[in-house]
Amino acid sequence: MKKVILVGLVTVGTLFAGSAEALMKQNGCFACHAVASKKSAPAFAGIGMRNKRFEGANAKEVIMHSIKNGSKGKYPMFSDTAMPAYPNFTQEELSTLADYILSQAPKAKGRRGQGGCSGKKGMGRRGMMQ
Ligand code: HEC
Repeated sequence: MKKVILVGLVTVGTLFAGSAEALMKQNGCFACHAVASKKSAPAFAGIGMRNKRFEGANAKEVIMHSIKNGSKGKYPMFSDTAMPAYPNFTQEELSTLADYILSQAPKAKGRRGQGGCSGKKGMGRRGMMQ
């Protein structure tokens, strides 16, 4: 019995990470994004961190909204490229993707900008940090 439960848990864990990454592969997210490094779009780790820091409890919703509707101008360093809208994801898929992205945020709560994703200029939202 114990064994069955264990196998079940491992499978759920693998499916969770696996399906977010599979969705990303299928939809070409990695053409612009990487998990931990910058390409023509911010790293998912940086996105997770930025939204946790600036959006707090709304972070997941904001990420889901940006994937569904696209985004431009939020990360000035990447203003040459726009995030395309993906209106066909279900809420569940958006939720899986957002959880995955948030889970990539560095665990240490560094206050200093890492990886240049904190948006140097024009954000005017520093006051919301605390
Ligand atoms: C054509 C290149 C490109 C593709 C393909 C792409 N993105 Fe993006 N993405 C970007 C750019 C550029 C930004 C920064 C947008 C900005 O500055 O507002 C971005 C931003 C984001 C953000 C941050 C939004 C926020 O509100 O903080 C998320 C989340 C994201 N992308 C997820 C995805 C996912 C998931 C996929 C695949 C389904 C994907 N992206 C595919 C270019 C891309």
